[in-house]
Amino acid sequence: MVDTQLRMAMIGVSGRGGLWRHWHQPQGRSVVVAGADVNPDRLAAFRQEQGGDAFITTDYRELLTRPDIDAIAVTSPDFCHEEHAVAALEAGKHVFCEKPMAITIAGCDRILEAWRAHGHRLMVGFNMRYMNIFRTMKEIVESGAIGEIKAVWVRHFVGRGSDFYYHDWHATRQNATSLLLQKGSHDIDMIHWITGRYTTRTAAFGSLDFFGGDKPNDLTCPVCDLRDTCTEYMEGPRVQCAFRQEVDVEDNQVMIMELEGGIKASYLQCHFTPDYHRNYTFIGTEGRMENSEPDMKVWVKTRLSNSYRDLADRTYDVKPARGGHGGADPVICGDFVDMCLDGKQPIATPQAGRMSVAAGVQAAYSLRHGGMPMDVPALPEDLLRYRS
Ligand SMILES: NC(=O)c1ccc[n+]([C@@H]2O[C@H](COP(=O)([O-])OP(=O)(O)OC[C@H]3O[C@@H](n4cnc5c(N)ncnc54)[C@H](O)[C@@H]3O)[C@@H](O)[C@H]2O)c1
Repeated sequence: MVDTQLRMAMIGVSGRGGLWRHWHQPQGRSVVVAGADVNPDRLAAFRQEQGGDAFITTDYRELLTRPDIDAIAVTSPDFCHEEHAVAALEAGKHVFCEKPMAITIAGCDRILEAWRAHGHRLMVGFNMRYMNIFRTMKEIVESGAIGEIKAVWVRHFVGRGSDFYYHDWHATRQNATSLLLQKGSHDIDMIHWITGRYTTRTAAFGSLDFFGGDKPNDLTCPVCDLRDTCTEYMEGPRVQCAFRQEVDVEDNQVMIMELEGGIKASYLQCHFTPDYHRNYTFIGTEGRMENSEPDMKVWVKTRLSNSYRDLADRTYDVKPARGGHGGADPVICGDFVDMCLDGKQPIATPQAGRMSVAAGVQAAYSLRHGGMPMDVPALPEDLLRYRS
């Protein structure tokens, strides 16, 4: 047993709450001692797998007063993050908050306010910052190989659109605001992280072109008459009809951004593609860089400089890593523990969490109001110096 151990609790124990398995190391530096969830069956399954001695509750507030809990992971749905993260910070717990940080800019700012007021540690679940392919791209930019970044183009093929976004709570504005800040919060953050610049202005177009429709809101796949022929039939766990009336988040959207320093970026997200991957291109004054997730490669092409300085074009073969999300999940969980126990600066900062939501919220507003350009409110002044 190690000298210092972080005692953790989960709010939301299944789905993304499965991260608890990385943190539960009874002989290591972190252990999961409790869980809260609105679903008693999921709580029971969690406790059984955890070993049987976890405290479980359907009321997350019962976690807040327990002195045997140092840190809380908020892995509940997006619309709960603000309430859960603020309560946990105010109760004096360290917090791991899944992305998106909240579904409004004001919600993010409330979380930041509680973080500043109570002095505990806060990290956002931006696991893409820990993926080898995007770490490679960041290192290339920082090496100066492609010069000063001027343009970023991101194409996001969300082939799992119906699996993950249209069969449950994700599909309504009330729960998620927009898939630009739900799914897209990762990509907006990648654009911010790799360039080192935040979005200052944005505009977008988008619509619901494939999902949604006139099916009843309580229709589920297992009882549907069309289950044998429907292309979106799901066996579970997410089984609400993807063509139900309440669905109102856009499935086909185009967002443009101006970043600090005048960088121009675009983010294209479509939820009914057959394939699932992200294609990023960064263009700088001396070259360009592009990735392929299916091929696990990054290409760098440099411009002719007509001088002895010319660098070769290069292909990077990205190493696969073990663990969820391209090996990122175990590493981000370890980083959270290092942050809480050792004071290590996190890679996935709260400031970044707020700025990706801010850009996504403003883009969603733009696309619902004729595509008008929107300013993106900057971070509160005192947080700017910790930007990342
Ligand atoms: N970083 C990533 O790669 C990544 C991947 C998946 C999901 N996520 C994020 O994780 C969060 C959860 O997503 P999910 O797909 O696991 O959702 P989910 O619907 O599976 O819910 C997760 C858990 O929270 C519980 N829950 C629901 N409402 C609750 C409440 N009010 N209080 C307590 N528990 C509640 C559910 O019963 C479930 O056990 C989302 O914010 C999502 O964006 C992040």
